[in-house]
Amino acid sequence: MKSIGIVGVGKYLPKKVLTNHDLEKLVDTSDEWIVTRTGIRERRIAEKNEATSDMAIKAAEAALKDAKLKAESIDLIIVATISPDMQFPSVATIVQAALKAHKAVAFDISAACAGFVYALIIAQQFIASGKYKNALIIGAEKLSSLVDWTDRSTCVLFGDGAGAAVVAPVKRNGIISTYLGSDGTGGNLLMVPAGGSRLPSSHDTINKKLHFVKMQGNELFKIAVKCMAEAANKALKQAGLGCKEVDCFIPHQANERIILAAAKRLNLDTDKIFMNIDKYGNMSSASTAIALCESVKSKRVKKGDIVVLDVFGAGLVWGACVIKW
Ligand code: COA
Repeated sequence: MKSIGIVGVGKYLPKKVLTNHDLEKLVDTSDEWIVTRTGIRERRIAEKNEATSDMAIKAAEAALKDAKLKAESIDLIIVATISPDMQFPSVATIVQAALKAHKAVAFDISAACAGFVYALIIAQQFIASGKYKNALIIGAEKLSSLVDWTDRSTCVLFGDGAGAAVVAPVKRNGIISTYLGSDGTGGNLLMVPAGGSRLPSSHDTINKKLHFVKMQGNELFKIAVKCMAEAANKALKQAGLGCKEVDCFIPHQANERIILAAAKRLNLDTDKIFMNIDKYGNMSSASTAIALCESVKSKRVKKGDIVVLDVFGAGLVWGACVIKW
């Protein structure tokens, strides 16, 4: 397989900051509860007229600039999102039109919080097969539009944002190994029940608040720890590497305690973990994309480093990717 790597990264975060103290005024919660149970201190909230694609476009432009590539040279655009602008058309085609990436094939994927790693691995396969050369992958979410702002068990967890990366053949380094897993039997643990073909929008679905995120947090917590540890282990084993060789571990940012528990199972030093959950909360597919961008831009990840992306999300879906930067 030819070497394929990430040649540019970008991010976009809405300006509006919603702190835990702001949330204390909305629901029966406290900064102390949120920080100790999740590690989250604040999150970003998109403007009312700012859709997922608006954020995706800005992150994509930043990634293209970073990769020193023009939109016309992009062959493939994959947007990972669970909060698209609308049922269809896809966010990816809206991004394609805005960027004037005329040549690109564009589609969305639905793999919740694992979406960015799923998109990366899909792009890698297309490039490895020789079908396409330059791919733009984006994780973009406006989760504030799916959250019940009267439900303290979920509304404190999520935020909005977008991250992007350009994936292309590289002369040196690049993706070393990948691992993906799915288990649809756990699909009921995290979902937005209505608005699809099972429960189309109606007065009843609105009255019952079925268009908002429903989550069984406790159950998910345990599965997330197990699956994230397993995914990173399998990808590292496939790469012929151990945790000692990892320079930067970039996990999905759902809960600081999940991340620390997964790292403990992996026997991974905590100083190798990149975390920004305190600033942004859980932005689903955008979390890993933004964390990767920030770890590179802050020089936390340097040339030649071994980076592990490790994700878990609704579906249930999970995965990991080992990259030599
Ligand atoms: N503020 C104050 N109290 C809250 C609260 C809030 N925002 N949310 C829940 N509580 C209360 C609960 O009502 C419960 O009270 P009770 O004991 O009187 O019933 C208590 O806190 C403990 O709730 P519990 O759900 O057991 O807390 P927890 O330690 O499991 O933490 C989560 C809850 C959601 C933070 C945690 O389970 C989690 O992060 N789960 C995984 C979520 C996840 O990863 N989702 C996305 C997957 S990608």
